[in-house]
Amino acid sequence: MKKRALILGIETSCDETAAAVLEESTESIPNLLSNIVSSQEQIHKKFGGVVPELAARSHIDKIDLIVNEALKKSGKKLKDIDAIAVTGGPGLIVCLSVGLNFAKALAMTLKKPLIIVNHLEGHALSPKLITDLNYPYLLLLISGGHSQYLAVKNLGKYKRLGTTIDDALGEAFDKTAKLLGIKFPGGPFIEKFAAKGNKNRYDLPKPIFNKGGCNLSFAGLKTAVLKISKTIKNDQDKFDLAASFQKIIEQILVKKTKIAFDQFEKISGSKKKFFVIAGGVAANKNIRNNLEKLSLDKNFIPIFPPLNLCGDNAAMIAMVGLEKFRLKKFSKLDTPAKPRWQLDQNAAFLKGAGVKL
Ligand code: KG4
Ligand code: ZN
Repeated sequence: MKKRALILGIETSCDETAAAVLEESTESIPNLLSNIVSSQEQIHKKFGGVVPELAARSHIDKIDLIVNEALKKSGKKLKDIDAIAVTGGPGLIVCLSVGLNFAKALAMTLKKPLIIVNHLEGHALSPKLITDLNYPYLLLLISGGHSQYLAVKNLGKYKRLGTTIDDALGEAFDKTAKLLGIKFPGGPFIEKFAAKGNKNRYDLPKPIFNKGGCNLSFAGLKTAVLKISKTIKNDQDKFDLAASFQKIIEQILVKKTKIAFDQFEKISGSKKKFFVIAGGVAANKNIRNNLEKLSLDKNFIPIFPPLNLCGDNAAMIAMVGLEKFRLKKFSKLDTPAKPRWQLDQNAAFLKGAGVKL
């Protein structure tokens, strides 16, 4: 019997040190044998955001422990591994370099292939860890560093339909949380605060709501939240502001997702239309519920990964690794980290003043 491929995944692009072992299966969904994520939340929370140097130092401290833990939990030995998949970008260069150098050293010592993975491609393929999903599909990626709609046409083939022209959605959640006195990362707390507040209390703007296709913008919203936060006197005011913010985000995402659905339908040509959401913000229950309802209304099949696969993890990196391994898409050992690695290489840069939508 042919040996089932065994992939070790490694992820250190931002503030999570993660390793996972994934085994090919005769079924279409591979076996996730282990998935270890060590978060640096405690290190960064007093700074209100990720401090790159501290993040890199912590990755260096932990990487071998986390990889060993992933191997131990999987019941496999390093010698059983067929390839090492590692995030090569986008992300913080000092953080990416830790995982990448570790993976290169392993690949060289074990004489096994190195597979460098785009972190966003990891998020894009994360639902394949739980379900049999065929290309093409529409992806909404909403994380602390990215917010984009992508048509996933095939492995390595992406068309960006829309992107944020300023802040990422997770950033908007974290900045709003900071203004409400909540420590980083604030997204999950905004959700909790919002549940106790009046969503109609504060009027907030919806930047580029009626223009710019399915591109997104959150900077104007942040300025409005900043103004209102100065008038806040008690906890109820905070809950109301969180609820008003959460409501506006839901409205923006529903409207922009409708536009993305229309655009995807025109290019996909397939009868079955799948809609995937991924990234840390996809853990937000109200956002999930709203987008699930919209999908069903518009004849899209919603495929939302479980919460533990929404945030950064190495299982998704191993998933891309497995698909590339089957196609023998290996990387050279001298490949550098790519902090700005885009999935759609043809997409225009849409950030900064003067951007034409
Ligand atoms: O994908 P992720 O784990 O890391 C990257 O940025 O790549 O996403 C982290 C982001 C943070 O901004 C965090 O505040 C946000 O996801 N987040 C949430 C929720 N859980 C995490 N935002 C809103 N609601 C949540 N429940
Ligand atoms: Zn991510």
